[in-house]
Amino acid sequence: MNFLTKNLKLNTFKTSSKTKFLRIYRWNPYINQNPWFSFYPIYLNKTGPMILDALNYVKHYYDSTLTFRRSCREGICGSCSMNIDGTNTLACLKSINSFSNFFTVYPLPHMYIIKDLVPDLTNFYSQYKSIHPWLKTTISKNYNKESLQSKIDRLELDGLYECILCACCSSSCPSYWWNQDKYLGPAVLLQAYRWIVDSRDDQTVNRLKFLNHKMRLFRCHTIMNCSKTCPKSLNPGKAIALIKHKLF
Ligand code: SF4
Ligand code: SF4
Ligand code: FES
Repeated sequence: MNFLTKNLKLNTFKTSSKTKFLRIYRWNPYINQNPWFSFYPIYLNKTGPMILDALNYVKHYYDSTLTFRRSCREGICGSCSMNIDGTNTLACLKSINSFSNFFTVYPLPHMYIIKDLVPDLTNFYSQYKSIHPWLKTTISKNYNKESLQSKIDRLELDGLYECILCACCSSSCPSYWWNQDKYLGPAVLLQAYRWIVDSRDDQTVNRLKFLNHKMRLFRCHTIMNCSKTCPKSLNPGKAIALIKHKLF
């Protein structure tokens, strides 16, 4: 069953209170065609409750060429991030019933697209690599023993270690939209702060020196889209403010 037609008439399908219509942004680099929208009826008594279930339903029953990332289906891996009816979020954590009868799924905004709902995260991950996201210590340690933290020091990591690098925040940030070649963006800066405040790490000064840069850090203008959209309810805007505070 092919629903690629752009002029699909919605009244072609039987509707009921158990039917919703899903509009999906499509693009295929292997065919010579501009991006388009595909429309699919979703029968709620035949799918699971989440948007990811609806996408799986479309892929299994309507169009196997539909491409999107997913893995854990429980908000842990961060791969199903996309823009659903204007909000960047995780498809596996959003229920179909929280949207109107006609809703739209786009890829994350302002990213290069590989195919359909799959953004190219190469730049995002190379920025993540640039902050050295691992424990760094120059003091020789006995690696046969645990590196312990006090309970108070461990609490500093709450609200940071839960980040799943879904990129919902960075792709909602206007500063990142226009400068993602230079500005690190909220996700990577939250991760940078996670290592800055880790009591076991002794490279805090060097980490702060790296971030003290008008483009890497100070392109953040505290618009706070990032904290509003985070599907894990984290606050990258606050983490950025705390890095700036450490620099003054
Ligand atoms: S801070 Fe939230 S939105 Fe940003 S990458 Fe981490 S989990 Fe995703
Ligand atoms: S607070 Fe900073 S990082 Fe967050 S959306 Fe605004 S400019 Fe971007
Ligand atoms: S599939 Fe892993 S977060 Fe959605």
